[in-house]
Amino acid sequence: MAVIETRNVVKRYETGGETLTALKGIDFAVEPGEFVSIMGPSGSGKTTLLNLLGLLDDPSEGEVLLDGEDVTGLSDREQTRARKRTIGFVFQHFYLIATLTAKENVEIPALFDRDPTLEGRSVDLLERMGLGDRLDHRPDELSGGQKQRVAIARSLINEPRVVLADEPTGNLDRETGRQILEEFVAVTERDVAVVAVTHDELVNEYVDRTVNLVDGYMGEDAPTSTGSAGEHGAASDADGAVAPSGAGERDAEPDGTFEGVESRRDDSGGDR
Ligand SMILES: Nc1ncnc2c1ncn2[C@@H]1O[C@H](COP(=O)(O)OP(=O)(O)OP(=O)(O)O)[C@@H](O)[C@H]1O
Ligand SMILES: [Mg+2]
Repeated sequence: MAVIETRNVVKRYETGGETLTALKGIDFAVEPGEFVSIMGPSGSGKTTLLNLLGLLDDPSEGEVLLDGEDVTGLSDREQTRARKRTIGFVFQHFYLIATLTAKENVEIPALFDRDPTLEGRSVDLLERMGLGDRLDHRPDELSGGQKQRVAIARSLINEPRVVLADEPTGNLDRETGRQILEEFVAVTERDVAVVAVTHDELVNEYVDRTVNLVDGYMGEDAPTSTGSAGEHGAASDADGAVAPSGAGERDAEPDGTFEGVESRRDDSGGDR
């Protein structure tokens, strides 16, 4: 069963009396352990889709399912709970809190649980990411690739079923980008799905499947092709699709508080 799925999802934005339809009927499903990239031109709806998949916004029509359960009708509080249980987020700009150590940043999404195993889990994740000797470093004492590894560790702290990544290699050089993509592959080997919105062709060397989003349509439904699928490019035969980038980009604080991600309409966010 798909871990995350959209069924005929439509998203309209109303601004100044105008209606803009950003997504025009998206059917997209991701299986456990799958690594899927979503590509498409600027304005094609990638961020919008990622926000819907991450339960950071509601569709105008259609359904979003997590583990087969339709979550569109749930209250904000219930959606928050479902999101926390199922989804991790990784962003282009890392969004680490500057005043906290690597270990503390990883613990943020679980801070309010008062779980005595939290610190141990945080250390385990950072060790898995090759950062066992950087536990107490603050973000300004870490390289870009190390920061992104901290962000990946943070995305995994609540043992999600799917990680949604927004341009995860966008701020990294090529070699560091490869290392991060290998970390994602390792994540999928533990049966966690990864959905990455990207402009980076490098990503397509690592994914199981690429879907294209063009003008609010996905894959075969798209009226035109961007031709951006990589060697595994399955854009044309993908059965589904998409995840928007930047779920947090518009919402998270520039210094990387977790506010926009976990607690946009939530009482368990990154405030401490
Ligand atoms: N909050 C909003 N209110 C009104 N219109 C919006 C809003 N968010 C996005 N849009 C519009 O919806 C369309 C899709 O935007 P979206 O941000 O999903 O594109 P994108 O594919 O992520 O682009 P990029 O690659 O530039 O990040 C665009 O035309 C955009 O202007
Ligand atoms: Mg975007």
